[in-house]
Amino acid sequence: MLEPIIHLLRDPVDLRQLKIAGDALVAESYVRYPILEGIPRLLAPTRTAKEETLRRKMQEFYERHTFPGYDGIDSPGVLMDKARRSNFGAWLDRAIPPMATVLEAGCGTGQMTNFLGLVATRTVIGVDQSAASLLLGNEFAERFGMRNVHFLQGNIFAMPIAERAADVLICSGVLHHTPDPRSGFESLLKLVKPGGVILIGLYNRYARIPLGWRKMLFRMTGRAFHRLDAHLRRKDVDASKKEIWFADQYRNPHESWHSVDEVLRWFDDAGVEFLSAVPAISSGVAGEENGISLFQKHPRGGAMEHVARQLGWIFTISGEGGLFVLAGRKA
Ligand SMILES: C[S@@+](CC[C@H](N)C(=O)[O-])C[C@H]1O[C@@H](n2cnc3c(N)ncnc32)[C@H](O)[C@@H]1O
Repeated sequence: MLEPIIHLLRDPVDLRQLKIAGDALVAESYVRYPILEGIPRLLAPTRTAKEETLRRKMQEFYERHTFPGYDGIDSPGVLMDKARRSNFGAWLDRAIPPMATVLEAGCGTGQMTNFLGLVATRTVIGVDQSAASLLLGNEFAERFGMRNVHFLQGNIFAMPIAERAADVLICSGVLHHTPDPRSGFESLLKLVKPGGVILIGLYNRYARIPLGWRKMLFRMTGRAFHRLDAHLRRKDVDASKKEIWFADQYRNPHESWHSVDEVLRWFDDAGVEFLSAVPAISSGVAGEENGISLFQKHPRGGAMEHVARQLGWIFTISGEGGLFVLAGRKA
């Protein structure tokens, strides 16, 4: 199963090539990375001891709370329906060409990885540090014979992937759980081909404010006010998924919040051309009901407009976690 992508994999420590040797991947340094339950275990530590301590804490958390939940998603059709119901999923699927190599960094249980892999001509790789999450994604891919979808255990700060491997790299809902999101972005960008697209999804500094208040309230009052969270009130989400949501949003050991202009600065400094944002960050963009061509260049607006829009997000995307995504093209 790994033969078609072995040229895209690297030893996460010395970045040299890996070879398949039975039930392991072997590095040129003769280190063996086992393949357990169908998943190559290529997890290597983050560089500094302090950052590695936090990474381990996050890994333990996501080994217990596999996110997002899979309950009820028992066929490709159901997965497709769910992903397409979110505008972002539908637009992303439409934007990614059929022959693309797609990398999802921090794929969690791999719902997006599997969804994008439903186009069998794409090569789709999901990397996460949580083995428990990856097993759920891999079980789905194996059950439905999705041979173009691959899951690897790895660390975003020591990725087991060759530089310039990906046409499209997605990292959503992840970097804000790491000690240094900007350097995470910079390391991931190396894995994108020149001219390829990177999509970064982060908690928004403004849209996250109501959740911050609720978090404090819940800490003081227990479950009494849980209905203040729009997601916990939803009737179309079952109890176990709500538990996972609650843990991810309110009990997470580490998160940071980010603004649109901050991420645009990351893009500018790294020579990444801004393409689009979800939600939109300027006027003059086709209305969301018409759909956004994520990989086409959109107006990026100015700082004042961004502040106004992000304040508006307090009343829109805040209820579902306050996550915004920026897409950019690598020079
Ligand atoms: C909130 S979940 C998001 C999952 C998925 N991207 C989504 O949007 O549904 C965050 C994921 O990031 C992963 N993660 C956090 N830090 C990581 C790191 N340093 N390396 C690899 N994965 C990491 C966690 O294990 C977890 O599965």
